[in-house]
Amino acid sequence: MREVGLSITAKDIACAETAAGPNGLVVFGASGDLVRRKLLISLFRIYKRGLLGEQFYLLGAGRKKLLSRQFRQNTQRAIQESSGDISIKELESFVSRLYYISGDYSDLSFYDSIRAKAAELDKKHKAGGGVIFYLAVPPFLYSTIVERLGSTGLSCRDEPDSRRRVRLVVEKPFGRDLQSAVELNNKIHQCFDESQVYRIDHYLGKDTVQNILMFRFANAIFEPIWNRNYIDHIQVTIAESMGVEHRGGYYDTAGALRDIFQNHMLQMLALVAMEPPTSFEADHIRDEKVKLLRSIRPFKLDEPDKFIVRGQYGPGLTNGAGAVREPPLLGYRAEPGVNPQSKTETFVAAKLFIDNWRWKDVPFYLRTGKRLAKKNTEIAITFKKVPHSMFIPAGLGDMPPNILVLQIQPEEGIFLSFQAKQPGSKICMSTLNMNFNYRSVFGGDMPEAYQRLLLDCMSGDQTLFARQDGVEVAWQLVTPILRAWEGDDSNPYEYPTGAESFPEADCLIESDGRKWRQLSKIADLNK
Ligand code: BG6
Repeated sequence: MREVGLSITAKDIACAETAAGPNGLVVFGASGDLVRRKLLISLFRIYKRGLLGEQFYLLGAGRKKLLSRQFRQNTQRAIQESSGDISIKELESFVSRLYYISGDYSDLSFYDSIRAKAAELDKKHKAGGGVIFYLAVPPFLYSTIVERLGSTGLSCRDEPDSRRRVRLVVEKPFGRDLQSAVELNNKIHQCFDESQVYRIDHYLGKDTVQNILMFRFANAIFEPIWNRNYIDHIQVTIAESMGVEHRGGYYDTAGALRDIFQNHMLQMLALVAMEPPTSFEADHIRDEKVKLLRSIRPFKLDEPDKFIVRGQYGPGLTNGAGAVREPPLLGYRAEPGVNPQSKTETFVAAKLFIDNWRWKDVPFYLRTGKRLAKKNTEIAITFKKVPHSMFIPAGLGDMPPNILVLQIQPEEGIFLSFQAKQPGSKICMSTLNMNFNYRSVFGGDMPEAYQRLLLDCMSGDQTLFARQDGVEVAWQLVTPILRAWEGDDSNPYEYPTGAESFPEADCLIESDGRKWRQLSKIADLNK
């Protein structure tokens, strides 16, 4: 495969960036991993870019006993470890806006203390009365905290003016199945209005995921061919080379279907397959996504392995980068925190159909897994082959189809493969790959998804957050699968660490005469 490059012809055709404005952020679970690894570092980066403003404070709330001074020191260390290029002055100015308060989440007096402290900080930092409650706690605590925020009046559910300035951010997982998601939504709605709720799916904060909308709807040439008449099939892949790392305890209660498929995977599918929204407004986009998710045909579960296959990684000698590991890497069941007889899936492959005019009979093949051959997230759109080859006399009968790849990560870009004549007197064709790579065109690193999500939440833009009906419709699709697996005594298929795939997952697509894109080959495209 040969490659041709790409350059920008007009920079910044349209640019819009909203600053956060005055705000207070109350983070529950502030001493936890997520806050240290993602949230605070992202906030600092926004602050550095001048988008957070000076009228800002963060009040960390947690069970762990910590002084504000210790919280600041921990944060400073975590930010310094994340990047070498940091101005101490900026960092000190940022951490001077951080505070910490400890207490018991179920104790109402904790919320009184939070109210008093937030009021004091609001005055001190001139934050304008706006406050965002961020739930970075384990999901079993969501209801308790939401209920207490409601019963102590902190949610301002019934005060239209304050309601606009009080928001709730909820991390995933949002429920474990349809019923628990509906219950959680009901609980939240007793205390908060939907317009106050920001459900995070960090994939929606990735630039390459947002670019799906720009690519489809800011260009006129793709939409006419974006349908069953031109597209043969679509593959969506979220492959990880890492295992469950230190999250075995959580992961064993979740599995790939809950952890990735129900949220990140279906969100990407919705963006690539939905109808054009009327405008770039939050609810117009979310309406179309929900409509698309509702059109997905329910899985036929009476034909095992025909539409959905689950796998679990076993031990292996290679990691995703192909390097030989001695001793071998642990299989999933031997990971810390995982039940040694666990039936939890670390891989899911599925075939689904969307019952609408645009996509009737076009298969969508979806796969996600841990400890696979390469980390790679992409959406590959395979077009139909030419209807008739005029090159048969030259021995060029079966030509490969054009494939358009929206490469989400780790090498962000877009590739289009097509056939072209090689120079010379012979009739010789090559498959070329037209390649747009974000980093080489725009330079620098891609921003962390949380930066965008935090900024949007602080400026009151819900576009990139999942809405109640969107979450529920996704659970509606996957809950029957969860139930079927729970009632099934068989184990997931085992695949070795570092595998490309395994026979049952291959069969799901190969029985239709198609093939999974090879993970190791995909990476070569980016070089
Ligand atoms: C998280 C999942 O939502 O997404 C993890 O809980 C997974 O299991 C992660 O590893 C993948 O995110 P990213 O941004 O690295 O693709």
